[in-house]
Amino acid sequence: MTKLRPTRRDFLRVSSTAAALTAIPAGFSGPRCLAQEIVSKNDRIPIGLIGAGGMGMGNMNSAKSWVDVVAIADVDSGRLARANQQLSQGKADVYEDYRKVLERDDIAVVHIATPDHWHTKPVIEAMLAGKDIYCEKPLTLTIDEGKLIRRVQRETGRIVQVGTQQRSTFNLFTKAMAIVQEGRLGKIHRVQAAIGGAPTSNAIPVAEVPGDLNWERWLGPAPLVDFRRSEDGKQTNGHYEFRWWYEYSGGKLTDWGAHHVDICQWALKLNGQTEGPVSIEGEATHPVEFIDGMPVANDRYNTATRFQFKVSYPGGTEMIIRNDTDNGVLIEGELGRIFVSRGKLSGAPVEALAEKPLAEDAISKVYKGLPMTDNERRAHWANFLHCHQAQQEPISDVHSHMEMLNICHLAGISGRLGRKLNWDAKSEQIVGDDVANAMLARPYRSGYEIEMG
Ligand SMILES: NC(=O)c1ccc[n+]([C@@H]2O[C@H](COP(=O)([O-])OP(=O)(O)OC[C@H]3O[C@@H](n4cnc5c(N)ncnc54)[C@H](O)[C@@H]3O)[C@@H](O)[C@H]2O)c1
Repeated sequence: MTKLRPTRRDFLRVSSTAAALTAIPAGFSGPRCLAQEIVSKNDRIPIGLIGAGGMGMGNMNSAKSWVDVVAIADVDSGRLARANQQLSQGKADVYEDYRKVLERDDIAVVHIATPDHWHTKPVIEAMLAGKDIYCEKPLTLTIDEGKLIRRVQRETGRIVQVGTQQRSTFNLFTKAMAIVQEGRLGKIHRVQAAIGGAPTSNAIPVAEVPGDLNWERWLGPAPLVDFRRSEDGKQTNGHYEFRWWYEYSGGKLTDWGAHHVDICQWALKLNGQTEGPVSIEGEATHPVEFIDGMPVANDRYNTATRFQFKVSYPGGTEMIIRNDTDNGVLIEGELGRIFVSRGKLSGAPVEALAEKPLAEDAISKVYKGLPMTDNERRAHWANFLHCHQAQQEPISDVHSHMEMLNICHLAGISGRLGRKLNWDAKSEQIVGDDVANAMLARPYRSGYEIEMG
């Protein structure tokens, strides 16, 4: 696990069909492309799945035209067995320890769909082992983890796609970006990400750890605490519900922020906003008290249930992140405004496309000229596998991801401390606030530090 600069592998051939894929014409009502030809049928890619929960299973189903799941790692043996049956007819090798997947020379691509606190460590170790990676969002739990991931990505040159699949939604988000890039909104002065709030819970009792689950390994780098589950089984600090615990996640601010703040930041970039934000301020309500940024109670959900933040950029542009209005992204410029969500793209500049369509290559330009196909999740996988074969930067690269995830993490820190933060985007430090700067990182539990080789 020590190859800092792995050599490019000899299977780095771009299939001629993939290279020949045509760009989707402007004004299309739905993407149409040769999904099945992104990777030829004779060229199936062996993949290792790390984390076989809801999203890992869903993603492997999205990618099944192109990949064979040959190895699966999960700390829940019941989930492992189910995934092996459903994804590989029982033929995959299964492991409790994901490092066994990374050791295999026959696997060049891994998918990481573990809970958020278990992303950075396997991503870095996979890059160092020479793998290309599709990792679920949010890529990190802290701002400092993002610095490390970007450094290792630059040093290894590995291809890393983040699971922000909205970037591959050609008739909605990608099209909205094309409208922005063509200048149809003029200079943008305000973007808004409405992402919903987190649920609350009553105190969730300590419970017996299910027999299939290695709870100590599930916790991994996070503090060693008891397993909790409500009597009806619905609320827990484990599978799926980890999202509502600061210890394992950033709550909605990173769960959905990773999607919609990403679109906001992408729009600003395409509109020429090259400098990062300078401050973030707002209010957040948490279900438990936080003192100096740390939750006081450890027996119930603790991430922000309600919030509104204003992120300020040089030149006066603002980004609003809030929980309390229709889920989606609002982009406002001097010439008009558009709203885009997973269900619709609307606004006068959208209606104006009937009279004056986008340029033929407008969406392709936003999509870095990469092949386009199908619907969001499948298209995002096609993008990753194409970029793996071509050794090109994918559409959701770690660098743009971390630039925007910094904002989500800053919102979390600002909300937990209850004060405005001034941000130096170049040095990636909070200005003049030692307590806040201490929250750019979190300690890793002994035995679960990142293995740098
Ligand atoms: N892109 C999207 O739209 C989208 C949607 C849902 C979830 N997600 C992301 O996917 C990730 C997983 O979410 P989920 O809802 O599938 O959670 P989940 O709890 O259902 O699944 C996570 C799985 O990872 C396993 N796991 C934990 N630690 C592990 C380790 N060290 N090694 C191997 N396996 C380990 C767990 O046992 C579990 O089976 C999260 O980061 C979430 O934010 C993304």
